Amino acid sequence: MADTIPDLRNVPKARAYAELKGHSDAILEGVDDDVTAMATMAALVHHAFGHLWTGFYRVVVPGQLLRVGPYQGSLGCLDIAFGRGVCGTAAAEMKTLIVADVEKFPGHIACDARARSEIVVPVLDRRGDLIAVLDVDSGQLNTFKAEDQQGLERLVSWFATLKQ
Ligand code: SME
Repeated sequence: MADTIPDLRNVPKARAYAELKGHSDAILEGVDDDVTAMATMAALVHHAFGHLWTGFYRVVVPGQLLRVGPYQGSLGCLDIAFGRGVCGTAAAEMKTLIVADVEKFPGHIACDARARSEIVVPVLDRRGDLIAVLDVDSGQLNTFKAEDQQGLERLVSWFATLKQ
């Protein structure tokens, strides 16, 4: 399928995320592969909003280690320990973190020096176990709000519908 990704930068967030969720669900209809879904969602979110970096860190050792998965943007760090940086903290606490200014987040891991703000959303399977986090980085301060949290959490709720 050669679908085009809409430019949603000037669309109100709630509508933009509803549109992305619709695209994602349509593309992933009948798909039961989580890496395929991660690649699809990373491409959609990244290009629709023009972010700096958008992608997944997968849980490779539960409670201990995240490893980079499908992403869009410049090179990401490969491994992140639970509890380290924004991704590792969101994974350890299993909760979404919005960081308005990464320089004010103790232990932030700067894979791309241009990153100024970010959001990290836990990804759960149908049992409620953490399988990954979705990390979105922006080149501007204070990019992510509650609407981004809602939209991205809804997007990754797809993984809880997968039979594993
Ligand atoms: N900013 C993240 C690291 C991952 S990358 O920026 C791609 C963090 O502190 O968790």
